[in-house]
Amino acid sequence: MGTESLNIAVVGSGIMGGGIADVAATAGHNVVIKARSAQSAAGAVAVVQKSVDRRVSKERITADDAEAIMSRVGWTMSFDDLSEADIVIETVAEDMAIKREVFAELDRVCKAGAIIATNTSTLSVTELALATGRPTQVLGIHFFNPANVMELVEIVVPDVTDAAIAEAATQFVAGCGKQPVTVLDRAGFVVNALLFPYLNNAARMAEAGTASREDIDIAMKGGCNFPMGPLALLDLVGLDTSVSILRTLAEKFGDSNYEPVPLLCDLVAAGHLGRKTGQGLFTYD
Ligand SMILES: NC(=O)c1ccc[n+]([C@@H]2O[C@H](COP(=O)([O-])OP(=O)(O)OC[C@H]3O[C@@H](n4cnc5c(N)ncnc54)[C@H](O)[C@@H]3O)[C@@H](O)[C@H]2O)c1
Repeated sequence: MGTESLNIAVVGSGIMGGGIADVAATAGHNVVIKARSAQSAAGAVAVVQKSVDRRVSKERITADDAEAIMSRVGWTMSFDDLSEADIVIETVAEDMAIKREVFAELDRVCKAGAIIATNTSTLSVTELALATGRPTQVLGIHFFNPANVMELVEIVVPDVTDAAIAEAATQFVAGCGKQPVTVLDRAGFVVNALLFPYLNNAARMAEAGTASREDIDIAMKGGCNFPMGPLALLDLVGLDTSVSILRTLAEKFGDSNYEPVPLLCDLVAAGHLGRKTGQGLFTYD
């Protein structure tokens, strides 16, 4: 798998599904988004459309380029339509039971030789690999949010994975203009293992009222030169996803400091999931 055009399947049509579809189609690959409803598929395709429209308006690409990108993006509601995929990237909710079900379906439909990848933030890629009858073909391809902006992609390689699969995934990611790093299958990999304790402690500080939510973010942007404050970043990631990530880290590292603070759990219970619902630690239009 070099620089040729591949058939990419993205399973899941949320924040990451739409973003990864955009990246892959922009890099010249054919993309099919597997969604559970026509409405959510349309939402993911609209994310790609909005992204290409923005690049046309900024004169980074031409209208013809935009049309070509959109012509490479399709969607389906059936796993059976993923049988031609060279690489499948799973982006469903951060929940092992849900992902295992998806991997069992992928094992059923994917062609021999297909790379089956997860975009999980913290869950065991090895466990997902072993949920299939072909663990050597499975690995993590962990894009960051927003996928079309963030340069880094973690290539998460379980011990069971074939080295050639890891190499092919790395080439694919580099071909998408991203910076791959190779990581062992450890909870949180590199970035989230280091980032989430910080984000959780920022939420703990907001809960304690040490400063206002706005001022906590202003302090970390101004004091550390971070592009975003920690509370706005939690809202961007999604509070449900963040709570799942923290619970996995707490369990895997046996450290209660990773346990999501009550403020985050309460917001999730109230359905305030961050930017994607318009309300989280902050409110969005
Ligand atoms: N949000 C981020 O910043 C970020 C960054 C990197 C990786 N990730 C990871 O990417 C994955 C997706 O995250 P997201 O932010 O796109 O989430 P999201 O909530 O925006 O989307 C989740 C998707 O999962 C689907 N889904 C939910 N329950 C399902 C089920 N039972 N069966 C099938 N599909 C189901 C939803 O319909 C939706 O398409 C997670 O593993 C997450 O950890 C997220």
